[in-house]
Order: sequence, then structure tokens, then C-alpha cells
Amino acid sequence: MTATRDTFWMSRNPVGRGRDLLRSRQRSDAAPRPPGPRGRPFVGVLPELKADPFGYLQRLGDAYGDVFRLPLPLYDVVIVNNPEHVRHVMNHRNGEYSMTGPVSWAKKLLGASMQLLEGNDFRQRRKLLGPMMGRTQLTKVAAAVADEFAVRLTDWDRFADTGETIDLQHEINGVVIPAFMRAMFSTAPTDDVLAQLDTDIRTLMASASSPLLLSPPPRLLPGDGNPIQAWWRMRRWVTQQIEERLAAGTSHDDLLQVLLDARYEDGTPISRRDAVTEAVMLIGGGYETVVAALAWTLALLPQNPLAQQRLYDEIDLLAGARPGYQDLDRLQWTKACFDEGQRLQGLLLQPRFAMTDDTIGGYRIRRGNLIGIPIYHLQRDPRWWGPNADSYDPMRFYDKQISAARPPLAYMPFGAGPHRCFGAAMGYLEAQFLLTQIFQRYRILTPAGWAPQHDAAVVWPVKGGVPAVITPRPESEHRTA
Ligand code: HEM
Repeated sequence: MTATRDTFWMSRNPVGRGRDLLRSRQRSDAAPRPPGPRGRPFVGVLPELKADPFGYLQRLGDAYGDVFRLPLPLYDVVIVNNPEHVRHVMNHRNGEYSMTGPVSWAKKLLGASMQLLEGNDFRQRRKLLGPMMGRTQLTKVAAAVADEFAVRLTDWDRFADTGETIDLQHEINGVVIPAFMRAMFSTAPTDDVLAQLDTDIRTLMASASSPLLLSPPPRLLPGDGNPIQAWWRMRRWVTQQIEERLAAGTSHDDLLQVLLDARYEDGTPISRRDAVTEAVMLIGGGYETVVAALAWTLALLPQNPLAQQRLYDEIDLLAGARPGYQDLDRLQWTKACFDEGQRLQGLLLQPRFAMTDDTIGGYRIRRGNLIGIPIYHLQRDPRWWGPNADSYDPMRFYDKQISAARPPLAYMPFGAGPHRCFGAAMGYLEAQFLLTQIFQRYRILTPAGWAPQHDAAVVWPVKGGVPAVITPRPESEHRTA
């Protein structure tokens, strides 16, 4: 099952390019088109996909194998459902499979962030911003995050012990956004500003996922839900944060400071327009993902008493103290509980645009094809996860022998390859801290027989939220270190 590929750098050599593209075309032309359903005129298989996205893709995988075609109204998506082929698509070096497609117009109009860059420009930018997620910076960020979590969680006391059923997913959102804003901008926006930022980010994320046609088209009328207005409002807010900081001449221990202080090798900073775009995109990637993955974890963990008890045992080693960066290494069961929550969450499709002709698994891929990696199916495939793939078992991640025995890309909530999530380390930090801090204070009960379902939004949170009753943990339960 070898995969062949033309490298994008060949396009830098006009003579070589013609010859190499021709050779690529001949080579991939010799391969058959991926199999798949025919679909109906105009709509393709969109109605079937919308009706039951996960079940429908599963049935197609059973019928057509690891590489197949999904005809949608405007284009076909090629589904690639095998860790080996996935590695080939994701581990490109020079944008052969781009995260965002041919977007040079977008870079000119919107400014360039990591998501919009490829090749050398991308590598330089990613290296430049790397210190944001390094140990030194995350140690500083950790203190602010744990502090904000502690403040916000105290608020949960208002419904703890009342027997009231709350939506944990909604409540987690209210804890994670302010902590993220503090880590990123050292700022505490009012609840109204936070609510507007939240609406705008969700609007932008939803419109970014519209190529799959599963969510309603972006709203074009003015008002909440209009992505153009959301974009400019976000930019204005971020620009204001930057200008105020530069005018005050102050320096902070936050992520924005790293962005502003970053210098290329020739001493130049990131342009203002690009810096604003990077910051907007960091907010976009930085909290909704964390909220959705934590919601899945908290939906599943209370239904698995043994796993939950082990989590209590682990976090009680902190003797009720606030976690710090240095504690992350010993919160390994907590991390495994989160990984297992993310595994069962699973996104429907992670997209990549083929920027050159190719073959995958012996099938022809055309330049311009949209490739879809079905994370949900990869992460529940019995070939890599065994016959109980649908059950919640953090041991799959805690036990290093078990995790080493499966292909690495059978699990990829953070994507993979050069564009792998930039903020994964911070995502883990927030998740390990919040689980620790929640379970230090509370017990959580979800309704008997209730099981989380997927909401067809960009990060696939829990549909309808996570219903839960929370009660304070008695002091007597806390162990001392
Ligand atoms: C549980 C938490 C998170 C999850 C599940 C998640 C997931 C992802 C995924 C799937 C991608 C696309 C990767 C690919 O296509 O290969 C991504 C990219 C990205 N994420 Fe995250 N993310 C999380 C947290 C964060 C945080 C906390 C930040 C920032 C502080 C962040 C910033 C980014 C950025 C900037 C990118 C683009 C990277 C690039 O294009 O090179 N993410 N994330």
C-alpha cells in the first residue's frame, strides 16, 4: 500500500514543474478513481450524511474500504480511513495537502496566521511562536489559569447541593473562556464582552466548517451570526488590546507578550496585521475545543465509577492544593481520562486539500480534491481499539504498552503533521487542571441511562449539553500528601 506524491517545491522550477506534473498526472491517471456511492443529482449523498453522519460513514467504510468517495453537491470528498494513509496525507512538508487550500487571497485580505501559511513561511512562523507553548511560558500561564479556575469554580457552589440539574458543558464554558482570556491577554473582559466574543468565535468557527455543508450556510444579514461582522469585531477587540499595551509600555506574562516580542532572524517583528490575525485564530482554536473535549470527558467519567475513583485517588495526592505546571507529570491518570474522553468524542472529518495529484491506497487523488479524515471512526475502529472500542477505559492511554501497540495516528484529536495543534500542551494543561480542580471540590452525578450524543458543530460538543447534579466533596474525603 505505497503512496506516491509530487513535492510542491517542484513548482518552483518552471521547467521541472511541467515535466514533474505531467509525470504525476500520468502516474495518478493510471490509478482508478476511489470507489463510492453514486449520489443523486445536485445533492449527492448530502441528505444521507446529514441524517446520520457517523452511521452513514461507517456503512460506506464497511462497503468500500479505507479509501472511498463521498459525492457532495459541489464536490466529492475522498475519505481516508487508515492510519498509514492518514500519515501520508498529514505528514506533508511543503503544503502538498493544505489545511486551508489555495488561500493567497485570504492572506492578503485577512493577514496570515499559521493556519494560512505553508512551506518555509509556515515553518518560520511556527518556530517564531513556539516559545508561547514552551515550558517557561506555560509555567507562567499555569498560575493564571489555575487561579481563574479557582475563582470561577467557587461560583458553582450556588447550585452545589441544591439537587438542581445543571448543564455542565455550559458551566465549563463560563470557566474556560475567562481563564483563556487571562492567559492570552491578562485581561478580564466583562460578561457582556465575553458573551459577544464567544458568539463571534462560534460564528467564525461554524463558517470555517461550512465546506462540508453539514451546518447551515453563514448568515449574510447584519447581526449576530454574520461571519464578516464577527471577524471585524474580533479584530477590533484584539487590536485594541495590542494598542493599549503598546501605549502603556507594560510587559506581561501572557501569550500576547510572546507574540509582540517575537522577532525573525533579521530582527523584524510579525506585522501588525498578521499579529492580530494570529491572536484571533488563537482565540478561535484555544477554548471552544477545550470546552467540548472536557464536556465529553465529564459526560463519560461519572458513569465509570472505578475510573473516577482512581482520579480522586490521584488528585488527592495534591492534598487539596491548587495544581501547578510541575504537577502535570503526576496527573497522568487525569490526562488519560481526558484522552479517553476525546477519543470517544472524535470529530466527523478533519479536512485537507490536495494541492497536487497523488495516489493513496492505489487510488487516484486529483489536485483540488478535498480529503476527509474520519477521526471518529479512526478512534473507534476495533482494528486498533479492540472489540470494546466504544467503551470508556482510560487505561488505553495510561498503560504505555497498550498505547505503543496501536498505530500512532489511530488517535489524533489534535490533528497531525506540521499543522498539528499548536496549543495541545496548553489544552492538556487546562484539561488536567480543570478536572483536578472540579473533582477536588465536587462530586458529579449524571442521569442513569443517559449517554452523550454528538452535536453537529465544528468541534462536535455534546448535543443538548451535559445534565448533571453536583454536590460538594466532604473535607473528610481529602487525603493528605
Ligand atoms: C483540547 C483542546 C484542543 C483540541 C482538541 C485542538 C484541536 C486542534 C486541531 C484538530 C487542529 C488542526 C490540526 C490539523 O489539522 O492537523 C488544531 C490546530 C490549532 N490549534 Fe488546537 N486544539 C486544542 C487546543 C488549542 C489551544 C489551547 C490553542 C491555543 C492556545 C490552540 C491553537 C491552535 C492553533 C493556532 C492551530 C493551528 C496550527 C497550525 O495551523 O499550524 N489549540 N487544534
